[in-house]
Amino acid sequence: MLNNKNILLCVTGGIAVYKAVALVSKLSQAGANVKVVMTDSAKEFVQPLSFQVMSRNDVYFDTFDEKDSGVIAHIDLADWADLVVVAPATANVIGKLANGIADNMVTTILLATEAEVWIAPAMNVHMYAHPAVVRNIAQLHADGYRFIEPSEGFLACGYIGKGRLEEPERITELISQHFNNTTEKLLAGKKVVITAGPTRERIDPVRYVSNFSSGKMGYAMASAAQQLGADTVLISGPVDLAVPSGVRVVYVESAAQMYDAVLTEYDDASIVVKSAAVADYRPKLIHDQKMKKKAGDDVLELERTTDILKSLGERKQHQLLIGFAAETTDVIAYGKKKLESKNLDYIIVNDVTDPAGGFGSDTNVVTLLTREGEATPFNAMAKDQLAIRLLETIIQYESDKQHDR
Ligand code: CTP
Repeated sequence: MLNNKNILLCVTGGIAVYKAVALVSKLSQAGANVKVVMTDSAKEFVQPLSFQVMSRNDVYFDTFDEKDSGVIAHIDLADWADLVVVAPATANVIGKLANGIADNMVTTILLATEAEVWIAPAMNVHMYAHPAVVRNIAQLHADGYRFIEPSEGFLACGYIGKGRLEEPERITELISQHFNNTTEKLLAGKKVVITAGPTRERIDPVRYVSNFSSGKMGYAMASAAQQLGADTVLISGPVDLAVPSGVRVVYVESAAQMYDAVLTEYDDASIVVKSAAVADYRPKLIHDQKMKKKAGDDVLELERTTDILKSLGERKQHQLLIGFAAETTDVIAYGKKKLESKNLDYIIVNDVTDPAGGFGSDTNVVTLLTREGEATPFNAMAKDQLAIRLLETIIQYESDKQHDR
């Protein structure tokens, strides 16, 4: 899977360094050439020898220790890498990189490389939430770095929370997907607009009407479009997810704001994917002041929001329109009806009662329906993997149509 891929692993100092040894093993087993660079603190946790044995390569840690007089090691390594992975990445290295500091072999290589750099943070839950760390991560996102989010669980410091280095198996899987998916830029030169997440419809300054959408499927679609080479715009409702690197994001809150944002991006879009769970109703009246409770029951009067997708369908020119439908019964029949009534090219339907799919889940089970009546079912799979498969299938349908013409 990773044959002939050169992966430079930068290991920085935290207890999760021991997991980086397993990561080198997994990457090597997948066929990658792995070289390891360590900071001095990383060496306090695990001896360089462990990495040397696992990678079958020299381990680097001293910028001034030039093993080969023919090259300058930190530049040579920076140029050698097809992908640089910082795992575990401490708050310290994240802070240095966000500020362009190069004071050791790892940080010097990070500034010297032209390869993509992925960062897998691991730290104490409170450090991860510290405003400075949050700010530095946001800066690195904006600079185009990709993050492998830490998982939640029991941390070595005794706390339970977010901060645990992602498992080596999962990091290896993400790297394999990256190399396998980036081979063909099927959407190069195309602008893809994707909406994601819920909308919030305000009742008063402290309350709103919304839904349980996590935004994961929409963010996975944006990441997939980006990997396939598209110029990707993500119009996102309020969610707690990292924006995939390279994707331009426009944050919105209400259905009305989402409508405006989508229309602004519509004319030159090639593909529009409406994954957002847009509220169908909003409070008729938004109170300026917090509503005070009264004795007895109350009634909240709601009015319809604009159906964004329907309105896009009405003004469709060259755009390919892809909708989503979350259903609980008669999934295919309802999906077909929505595809026709909204003038869509494709609709992705899913049964939200399926335990392997639906809101908040990391996996999904869907069926892709075409305008011509074809149905392609997809088994349960991770949303990021599914997103790639869906776009590839749609691209294939479109290229078949071109040939038939
Ligand atoms: N959609 C939209 N604007 C809305 C509501 C939905 O663009 N105001 C889009 C969603 O992004 C999604 C598709 O329409 O792509 C979902 O279809 P829809 O019929 O609106 O689904 P539901 O809101 O679940 O409809 P129903 O309550 O009729 O099942």
